[in-house]
Amino acid sequence: MARISEEVINDILQKTDIVDLISTRVALSKQGKSYFGLCPFHNEKTPSFSVEPERKIYNCFSCGEKGNAITFLQKMDNLSYIEAIESLAEHANISIDFSSFKKENPHQKLFDINRDAENFYKLYLSSTKQGVQAKEYLKNRGIEETIIDKFNLGLAPSEFDLLYKTLTDKGILVSDLHDLGLVKQGKNENFYDLFRDRIIFPIHDEYGNCVGFSGRTYLEKDNEQAKYINSPQTVIFTKSNILYNFHSALQEIKKSDRVVLFEGYMDVIAAHRSGVVESVASMGTSLTTDQVRLIKKYTKNVTICYDGDPAGFEATARAIKLFEQEHMKIKIVLLPEKLDPDDYIKKYTPDALKNYINEKWVDHLEFAYIKSNMNIDFTKMLDIEHFKKTIFDLIKNTSNTIIESYIKRLSNDTKVSIESIRQDFNQYTKRNIRNITETQKKALPIDHKYLVAERNIINYFMKDIKYIASFNNEFGDLFYINPIARDIRMVIEDLYAKNEAETGIMSVTEEQVIAALNDEQLHFYQTKVKYKMVELLDKEFSDFFSVLQQYINTLMQKDLEEKIKNAPTVVEKIKLAEYRDVHIKEVKHGK
Ligand code: UTP
Ligand code: MN
Repeated sequence: MARISEEVINDILQKTDIVDLISTRVALSKQGKSYFGLCPFHNEKTPSFSVEPERKIYNCFSCGEKGNAITFLQKMDNLSYIEAIESLAEHANISIDFSSFKKENPHQKLFDINRDAENFYKLYLSSTKQGVQAKEYLKNRGIEETIIDKFNLGLAPSEFDLLYKTLTDKGILVSDLHDLGLVKQGKNENFYDLFRDRIIFPIHDEYGNCVGFSGRTYLEKDNEQAKYINSPQTVIFTKSNILYNFHSALQEIKKSDRVVLFEGYMDVIAAHRSGVVESVASMGTSLTTDQVRLIKKYTKNVTICYDGDPAGFEATARAIKLFEQEHMKIKIVLLPEKLDPDDYIKKYTPDALKNYINEKWVDHLEFAYIKSNMNIDFTKMLDIEHFKKTIFDLIKNTSNTIIESYIKRLSNDTKVSIESIRQDFNQYTKRNIRNITETQKKALPIDHKYLVAERNIINYFMKDIKYIASFNNEFGDLFYINPIARDIRMVIEDLYAKNEAETGIMSVTEEQVIAALNDEQLHFYQTKVKYKMVELLDKEFSDFFSVLQQYINTLMQKDLEEKIKNAPTVVEKIKLAEYRDVHIKEVKHGK
């Protein structure tokens, strides 16, 4: 194959205005010599994507994606290297004959034949008497003309060889039709069509090539037949690495930065009717890693919306595992009353489905909680113990906020006190979730120096996880003077965990922290926390640390005095006073 010379490529890049190109997809604003915007390759709230017109490159400081105009088009529009160059050349008004550069896809002939078959089925649905009946069936299921067009639905005739005859008459080789699984050979050596009397769902790969078909029965007489039959595995069709409707949904997937995954064709169509257009289906079989990676090329966010029956529930659990392995962000929609999306629309409305998908989703923890909660007999101690441990394992590496909320839920569901669940959790996981918030509720007017220490110490948390560890160890994960400071600490702690899981390295960058903070936290960080000094010395950390220790000691003493005052019996008063004296001694000795 001929190659495009480096000079030509450089010429094209030279004549391409990269800011112009990228600003058709990303809103950019000028800052100094560069332009900034929200990175199109990952989800972010504050801009870390920069375009440098001088060097003609783009670069995301947050996700690390970088390159030139060619890579940008390759990535954004899913183009090959040659296609990206061709598109740029066109814009730059450079005429090059690209025909010799393009490698003819070895399967092009088979794609073309499938397209012929697709058109045949389509025509058969739109212009025959049988088609009228099939459209009646579709209409009863809420599928009108526009949807038929959108999904290229077709109809296979009842004649046993009409497709075979029509396509071979056009000069298509029977061996090719056979290889594509469109015809089979009977015992008498006659060829006959695979699909007969079925509504046809063409299946496309991510580039839009028609790679196979599925046919659904629609006549009463066929009720005993398999509901769907599919093209067999061929050189261009492997069911396990294709997702139904992926190509059509691709632009919407990129735009909304998420994919909604269903089990079947009818579900995708139902979702489409409800306005959830970034929808694909795994076609009834277990999801595969190939399919997950296909999605991940375009978005990290997936919403799983499988059927609401027990089988759908199990399939969801398996899908979650695969998405987790690829570090995707997962939302799960559990449809009520064992409905599938299509039933849901029928029973309620298309809008209701859309709202359900967008608003009633749960995260994977919640899903796991619901799943393990289902088979528990809460009158059996062993069941409860088992349940508790399952949940502890589930939440043990998450943030403290999450842990606290599940501890509360466990307590609610098992009717065991929050305190003892918390103790069990600490014992089971060797973590130390202390309930210090109660004490803090009665806090005195807070001395400024404590607040300052609490803020400044956040800078250390970003530098090294060890500072968080010693902080938590001393004060407990839930400690705060100002709750925003605590929340920022938790965000940072979560980032360490996430980064470690993804890269094996225990570190966080300021950019990541900034991107993860909400508006209030970000304002707090930028106005009150951001440390002006270059070096963060251990010595200063200890100073802040002791100030906070002082704070907690004052508070605890105050709290004890209060308890002594209110103790109902003398014995209790004495006990508490003894405790106070020991405690004060410890403080004096600098424990
Ligand atoms: P479903 O049985 O849920 O079908 O199977 P559906 O899509 O909801 O269709 P309707 O509403 O019953 O018409 C889910 C998917 O499993 C695959 C298909 O991809 C189907 O969309 N399947 C199902 C088969 O391949 N063969 C079958 O016989 C059944
Ligand atoms: Mn279904």
